[in-house]
Amino acid sequence: MKIFAYGIRLDEQPVLEQWGKEHSEVTVDFTDQLLTDKSAAMAKGYDAINVYQQLPYSRATVEALSNQGIHIMAMRNIGIDNLDLKAAKEFNFKISNTPAYSPNSVAEHAAIQMARLFRRTPEMDAKVQNYDLRWAPTIGKEMRQQTIGIIGTGRIGRVLIKILQGFGSKVIAYDCYHNSEIEKEGLYVDSLDDLYRLSDGISLHVPAVSENFHMINDASIAKMKDHVIIVNDSRGELVDTDALIKGLDSGKISAFATDVYEKEVGIFNKDWSNKTFPDSRLKNLIDRPNVLLTPHTAFYTETAVSAMVNESLNADLSFLNGKQPVSALKF
Ligand code: COI
Repeated sequence: MKIFAYGIRLDEQPVLEQWGKEHSEVTVDFTDQLLTDKSAAMAKGYDAINVYQQLPYSRATVEALSNQGIHIMAMRNIGIDNLDLKAAKEFNFKISNTPAYSPNSVAEHAAIQMARLFRRTPEMDAKVQNYDLRWAPTIGKEMRQQTIGIIGTGRIGRVLIKILQGFGSKVIAYDCYHNSEIEKEGLYVDSLDDLYRLSDGISLHVPAVSENFHMINDASIAKMKDHVIIVNDSRGELVDTDALIKGLDSGKISAFATDVYEKEVGIFNKDWSNKTFPDSRLKNLIDRPNVLLTPHTAFYTETAVSAMVNESLNADLSFLNGKQPVSALKF
């Protein structure tokens, strides 16, 4: 059995090699190149591929893989929004994602960002960097006195709820699919409008499906409390960047943290330090003292990376053995 892995970074390589040693019945080869309709040719002669990337898995790519005889693909990430599912179905693919590599990785990141914004540490850090050691006017708010609205109570949202409850925050939640534990705790509000109306801070944990496109927009921001704090560690497409910038300009939104951006592909995970920055709206956000941005690294912990590689290779192997991995996509 032969698996070919695309886009393997240096931090993934030892995990992949260790997995190969522990599964001597499987040959695992890899490249650091991303999967495209061109690089699909590298998978010729293999039985399955293993991928992670933010570039689209387009129809052309799916077709090119199929032409190489590849119909099994395990994804090392959670999100499937960049995959052309229609094409995958048409070309008879078996596909899995890695939905639970470490919910804590993203949930901790969101909690840290939320707490930093309420305590205004980005602004204080900037002052200290400038040797300005005065306190005022950079006074913070205590997490235990905040109502935090969690949109999306999947694995990540639920871990975040526990962390925030540890701070003593009052947590409320909205999801169109109710989780029984969260239901039992009585955290759900009836509507997004209620969540917007009641929350001092809002954290987004829903996928980028068409129903959620630009859910944070002029109209939803208008329904929020004045000086609300918003955290988006899910998908850039959830936030209308123009509306967000307007909200920050007017002070309606007092601070914003994000790990994603609607036009991040081709910009994140690259060094722009000595080059012209390519996106003026993103620069506008980065330059603000009350905005915290990380370049899609909320997931990026040793635990998560190791689980992404191991669990996705296990899923490849299950498919190859004629089994359905638990993370097989139903489409
Ligand atoms: C996902 O798992 O879907 C993520 O967004 C993290 C990814 C960048 C590995």
